[in-house]
Amino acid sequence: MSAAHRLTAMVLAGGGGSRFRSARPKVVHPMLGRPMLLWALQAAREAGSDRIVVVVSPEIEADVRALVEPMPDVSLALQPIKNGTGGAVQFGLPAVDGEGDLLVVCGDTPLLRGTTLATFVADHRRAVAAATVLSAVPADAGRYGRIVRDSHGCAQGIVEFADATEGQKKIAEVNTGVWAFDLTWLRNAIAGLRPDNAQAELYLTDLLASAYAQKRSHAWVAQDFGEFGGINTRQEFADAWSVLQQRVLDQLMAQGVTLIGREFRIEPTVTVGRDSVLYAPVTLTGATVLGESVVVETGCAVHDAQLATGVHAKPYTIIEGARVGAAAVLGPFARLRPDTELAEDVHIGNFVELKKTRVAQGSKINHLSYVGDAEVGAGVNIGAGTITCNYDGVLKHRTVIGEGAFIGSNTSLVAPVTVGARAITGAGSVITRSVPDEALAVERSDQREVAGYGRRRTRKAESR
Ligand code: UD1
Ligand code: MG
Repeated sequence: MSAAHRLTAMVLAGGGGSRFRSARPKVVHPMLGRPMLLWALQAAREAGSDRIVVVVSPEIEADVRALVEPMPDVSLALQPIKNGTGGAVQFGLPAVDGEGDLLVVCGDTPLLRGTTLATFVADHRRAVAAATVLSAVPADAGRYGRIVRDSHGCAQGIVEFADATEGQKKIAEVNTGVWAFDLTWLRNAIAGLRPDNAQAELYLTDLLASAYAQKRSHAWVAQDFGEFGGINTRQEFADAWSVLQQRVLDQLMAQGVTLIGREFRIEPTVTVGRDSVLYAPVTLTGATVLGESVVVETGCAVHDAQLATGVHAKPYTIIEGARVGAAAVLGPFARLRPDTELAEDVHIGNFVELKKTRVAQGSKINHLSYVGDAEVGAGVNIGAGTITCNYDGVLKHRTVIGEGAFIGSNTSLVAPVTVGARAITGAGSVITRSVPDEALAVERSDQREVAGYGRRRTRKAESR
């Protein structure tokens, strides 16, 4: 790519955000797990920008810096005074060297699509324009800036709502706030902006008229105005959230995933294999990966987890940071906590909690158990109510259960402890010492029978 064809993006986030009523800057609020600002950055990258300058106000600088710190293609520019969109670009430009084109977008428009921006930039280049505005015709033009065209239909200038005559307010075509500029031209032209308008601001929009005077202005009309709405209120946030969520769901369905019902929270970072079936409501977040033919039933939440082919998560199973092998069956009401790793065909039943535990192939923990910091071999059966006593109040200790072992119901395994391969623990035992392979360990007092006790008790009650 020659230097002249380089695309740089500038994201304007120097405005107020007061209608959002938040202690934090609105652009750092996550939408489907991704801060609002990062949706705009993502769209700018998809359009081909190889570097991005974010213009921020002093109030939000620290929060935005923390967010973009790990991104080598992003730098910040400070707009110390709120003197308008033209002012924002003025303060941002020193961070951009060289030539090429500048794509300007707003930081609070997460619905922008990268493909739309790419088409827009291509049109700007085809027109060899100095300034191209992205316009649209919304159902209600509201307080947007109006695009004024000359008798030939050329984009002649923009009038802001605050400055518009009644006649100009009737213009249906508006400025979405997205721009493409020839950088070399822009550096000169931006110096000429003057705050001689109703808001006493430097209007970026005045540049369209400057370019028109040199026959280098252009407007590209978008099909769908819905992509350009800024998020100013919590209501708009909720509406945009639904649109983004629907896009994720549409993509999953296109990839062969069956969705039953309506209520889903699935982040764009999640991948789901074909022929998987999700029954709403389901939450899939973070770096979650579902293989093919996975079934996730009502009420499940899966975060940062991997579920291999054919896993069946029954209702209300909660999984975080776990890896689940093929054809495993989970729940209902199971909880897999971080660093849990289940091999193929493992069964985890109701009210079972696992943490930092590896369970080998075909083992079953079906009822009411807590197994933490443990290693469970293949073909093990862990009876109802089994508890690993892994924490002594200071340190965590490991439990190791060998393959083919049978842990009787209500066994307490006081870690550190090892139960050997094919060993058995008696129901109700409190196991404090390691059990050799193939041994039976029973730890309970002998049962005693008192003959006729029931009769004595009844008699006592009657004599009262
Ligand atoms: C601007 C346009 C208007 C357009 C509308 C689309 C101008 C003069 N007007 O309106 O034609 O229809 O956007 O949304 O450009 N910002 C800064 N620094 C500032 C002021 C704003 O960075 O000093 C940023 C805001 O954070 C926001 C964007 O610029 O991301 C637009 O600002 P906003 O005040 O929402 O738009 P208007 O200026 O009213
Ligand atoms: Mg404004």
